[in-house]
Amino acid sequence: MFELYIDIVCLMLIAAVLIGIYFFCYMTCYTHRSKSAKGAGIKKVVLITGASSGMGRATAEFLAENGFMVYAGTRDTEALRELEREELVPIRLDITDPVSVEAVVKKICERDGHIDILINNAGYGLVSTVEDVSEEQMYAQFEINVFGLLRVCKAVIPVMRKQQDGIIINISSFLGKIGLPLLTLYNSSKYAVEGITDSLRYELKDFDIRVHSIMPGFFDTKFASDNLVTNLDTFDEASPYASLVSNLAPVIVEQINNGNDVGEVGEMILAIIEDERSPARVTVGDKAKKFIPMRRELSDEDFERRVREYYDL
Ligand SMILES: NC(=O)c1ccc[n+]([C@@H]2O[C@H](COP(=O)([O-])OP(=O)(O)OC[C@H]3O[C@@H](n4cnc5c(N)ncnc54)[C@H](OP(=O)(O)O)[C@@H]3O)[C@@H](O)[C@H]2O)c1
Repeated sequence: MFELYIDIVCLMLIAAVLIGIYFFCYMTCYTHRSKSAKGAGIKKVVLITGASSGMGRATAEFLAENGFMVYAGTRDTEALRELEREELVPIRLDITDPVSVEAVVKKICERDGHIDILINNAGYGLVSTVEDVSEEQMYAQFEINVFGLLRVCKAVIPVMRKQQDGIIINISSFLGKIGLPLLTLYNSSKYAVEGITDSLRYELKDFDIRVHSIMPGFFDTKFASDNLVTNLDTFDEASPYASLVSNLAPVIVEQINNGNDVGEVGEMILAIIEDERSPARVTVGDKAKKFIPMRRELSDEDFERRVREYYDL
């Protein structure tokens, strides 16, 4: 009888210890969630680059409307003045200048104490043959689309690492998985963005920082009108590439101008933010949904044949 009594006391003690451990773990976890701005009532802070137009602008507005605190990084803050409000702050950002990038990160941290989501969106397209491209054009393309993106990551990662929480979303392109003539520099810059995404996913995993890429198809933005930079020699009527240029360039411009609506990109970004099991890379827009699965399924040669047929190359 006495032994049974001892057994019951032991069992109760073990149960008490287990309940204690459970509450300790729960409180530790709860404190961590609050620290990392996941707690109720704390707005998640977003920094987006290239926000004056197109996908960047639309996404900044969309996320601000959906309860985020958005810092809209741009070289041209005036272009965003009409959107400015408490939850959407235009902030001057030149991604080619490390001092500008550091200053933006410092300012956000001073105001909000955290940066939860970085959207690397700024980018432009150089249209040039490799034969004609100048040193300056070649470096400028990678300076914005690749090194600018890395520069912003470099400044934001320490903040996210200390938080043990963060999401980086790189706006790549479906052309980050597909070659096309005249777009060698642009496409290779987007291939590089894909490589950065893949590598950073490993590097930042232990700090609970997720990294994703979005590969848009063609979207109706200012990209064709304002941000396609053409090489004059390539576009010269006397160029040995003249027939390629006259066949392909108008088709690409037409496809961008009749592309999908930028709202789809914002919705995709929100879906990635909300679902921590989101895939490493996603497609958005008709062209990406057409070519990316084809790219995965076909051999290099078969895929090339399909692209040749499609663009009459
Ligand atoms: N439109 C498409 O069909 C398409 C398809 C696939 C991928 N993308 C990619 O989507 C992203 C957004 O492009 P979008 O279509 O929204 O075009 P967009 O309306 O032309 O916007 C591009 C943004 O990138 C920034 N940017 C452009 N040139 C720059 C430079 N030299 N230095 C620094 N920033 C520069 C600008 O930001 P600020 O002026 O605000 O600084 C601009 O707002 C780009 O990375 C682009 O490559 C576009």
